[in-house]
Amino acid sequence: LKVRVLDRNGLILDIFAQRAMTHEGKIQVELAQLEHLSTRLVRGWTHLERQKGGIGLRGPGETQLESDRRMLNQRIKNLRRRLDKVERQREMSRRDRRRGAIPTVALVGYTNAGKTSLFNALSGADAVARDQLFATLDPSIRKLAYGSGDDVLLADTVGFVRDLPHELVAAFKATLTETREARLLLHVIDASDPHEAERREQVEDVLESIGAGDVPRIQVYNKIDKPGAKAAPALGARDGSEQVRVSALTGEGLDKLAALIRELCIGRPVTRRIELTPGQSRLRARLFDLRAVTAERVNEAGGWTLDVELTSRRWRQLCAQEGLTEDSLLQEV
Ligand code: GTP
Repeated sequence: LKVRVLDRNGLILDIFAQRAMTHEGKIQVELAQLEHLSTRLVRGWTHLERQKGGIGLRGPGETQLESDRRMLNQRIKNLRRRLDKVERQREMSRRDRRRGAIPTVALVGYTNAGKTSLFNALSGADAVARDQLFATLDPSIRKLAYGSGDDVLLADTVGFVRDLPHELVAAFKATLTETREARLLLHVIDASDPHEAERREQVEDVLESIGAGDVPRIQVYNKIDKPGAKAAPALGARDGSEQVRVSALTGEGLDKLAALIRELCIGRPVTRRIELTPGQSRLRARLFDLRAVTAERVNEAGGWTLDVELTSRRWRQLCAQEGLTEDSLLQEV
């Protein structure tokens, strides 16, 4: 028929190859393609096996198949070395992030569930969202700033597919590693998808198999604006994970999702009232810098009465750094 015939893995790799954007993504795809090819070589080429003899060579010499395989292996080895290096660099920047203790939230989900759209809607970023399979290959990372100096990193990942081929699991290790190390997973589910339940299970299975089964998660039912969207998802997930219904397109439910992310990653904000003397203006300035002051009055002593909103972790830090004892200075509002 004079048309190219591909098997499923070959097709997935072809799609990945078109989408790969970063250096690491490209290396990973090429590696996976070559490895895929090297398993094909044996069967595909045996009938073409021919001898390459030459002066000074005794015996049949190296067959075409053997020399092809040698070249292929050389290239694979090179790519692995480069990938190792890139991974080491990534590992280092990951460690920096861990040291900075900025919690990471990873978006996972079946391909086309709307991860990239949600990523954009939450972070105001503009990574490409297209109605195509696998629009995301490389994990993109953005910062969500939550006032009071608390930040969360949001990471977009490649979409999951059914029976993810083994070679591909290896090829996308970097993406999957992000997922494993996340503080929280947002499992994005297309609420309008008739196969929603089945696909949700598949994603859960894959997460389990890469060691991310224990990471806390929110099930995010997306696309609730669509006419076909289910009225209510199967509430009360067995694992007790939170459920939220949103539309990345219209913005519905995003506030609730953002608040839930904040609560699960950083903690619930606690508001307290502080009395400051005139001598404590430096502390007052610091609280304003943290964007934590919600109300202020001048008090009789010429100082200030402040209503301050911070998470309990931040409160502890602040008290330690400023030499305050929580009880003497602070009262719950
Ligand atoms: P992959 O990168 O392939 O894994 O896909 P993804 O999960 O990142 O999906 P993406 O964000 O690219 O969205 C897929 C399609 O769904 C796009 O056409 C979006 O416009 C559409 N979409 C995403 N969110 C919504 C939503 O809330 N409502 C509606 N109606 N469409 C949405």
